[in-house]
Amino acid sequence: MKGIILAGGRATRLRPLTLVTSKQLLPVYNKPMIFYPLQTLIDAGIKDILIIIAPDYSGQFLNLLGDGSEFGVHFSYIVQKEPRGLAEAFSLGEDFVDGDDVTMILGDNIFLGQDFSQDIKNFKKGGMIFATKVPDPERYGVVEFGENNEVLSIEEKPVAPKSNYAIVGLYTFDHRVCQVAKNLTPSARGEVEITDLHKFYLNKGELKVNTFEGTWEDAGTFESLLRVSNEVAEMEKLTDSKK
Ligand code: G1P
Repeated sequence: MKGIILAGGRATRLRPLTLVTSKQLLPVYNKPMIFYPLQTLIDAGIKDILIIIAPDYSGQFLNLLGDGSEFGVHFSYIVQKEPRGLAEAFSLGEDFVDGDDVTMILGDNIFLGQDFSQDIKNFKKGGMIFATKVPDPERYGVVEFGENNEVLSIEEKPVAPKSNYAIVGLYTFDHRVCQVAKNLTPSARGEVEITDLHKFYLNKGELKVNTFEGTWEDAGTFESLLRVSNEVAEMEKLTDSKK
């Protein structure tokens, strides 16, 4: 199982902060944001990780993360010149993935106190997504599912969501994913959509959804960035008080 952290993009919603650095390097309480998704991959036992970064602050990522040896893993880097959608990560990363299974996490997705390691380690075939209940599903990819977590539909930012379950930025796919990603056509907003990858596996009856409860933030706005920083601070205080 290979890992990808997608940390490209311009993060215009976080300007002026992102005029001087990348969103994924901004502090979330006491650590740079990217440390959190990185830890999620490391906890799942993934040792070979590709980090996809935007050109502007690429040197800062290298200075911070290096070759991965400090984390006990190995990092590769690819510079994504223009952000053309999340699914592009798999066409850019084709040589790196090299026919293996792959788990991608978005560099601004922060999970606190979740353990996905068994799901990822037990992955065999197809596609696997993770979903959690949110009050505002129209902001996300939305999954509708029936009994036994059978996936019924997938929609990207629907006006009338069919469920309250947002698809979070953590995905596991089998070796077919790079080929499928290369053949996707961009959506109306000009992006190759991750939800179209999900639909490929859904149409084959090979898409699995795992739901979870607990803290998940897409730290792409000032509100969510502040909220998740406060949550981490609370957690750290609790841990310190138990020492
Ligand atoms: C992306 C995905 C969406 C997913 C979300 C999770 O949206 O397209 O399906 O629910 O990440 O963070 P974006 O945040 O790029 O608008």
